Amino acid sequence: MRNNWMAGVILIVIAGVLDACSSGTAREAVVIAGGDSRRGSAAIIRYGCGSCHTISGIRSATGLVGPPLIGIRNRTYVAGILENRPDNLESWIRNPKSLNPKTAMPVLGVSAQDAADIAAYLYSVN
Ligand code: HEC
Repeated sequence: MRNNWMAGVILIVIAGVLDACSSGTAREAVVIAGGDSRRGSAAIIRYGCGSCHTISGIRSATGLVGPPLIGIRNRTYVAGILENRPDNLESWIRNPKSLNPKTAMPVLGVSAQDAADIAAYLYSVN
């Protein structure tokens, strides 16, 4: 568990460095914690996250029901309650109600792989 966590942090740092010194293409290819950001953006569209969230880089994602999913990699917390780490972000995406029964975000049946891909995408954009 601790090793996974460290790997996630290291990859986020790598993502940040790549982002600082390269174009969007390299940034899109960044893989975080087993996730693929390209597949992540497709999954975000497929699950309809954009009906509730405004999301960087996804034109159709303009919802304002939930908070805008921007600058996720710079946040301290996920949903105000979880330390911002890939495993926590993925858990939230898969089952927000199990982490906060009062949340308005529904359980959308997101698979583990899709959650990892979505997390990789959200960490790759500002
Ligand atoms: C029906 C509306 C709705 C849909 C659809 C939805 N969400 Fe949410 N989401 C919310 C709401 C409302 C919150 C705020 C919840 C809270 O803080 O308790 C939230 C919170 C979040 C957060 C935490 C944001 C933060 O500021 O820390 C993330 C990440 C997130 N959603 C990702 C997703 C992803 C990825 C999808 C698609 C798989 C998705 N959401 C689909 C309503 C939605």
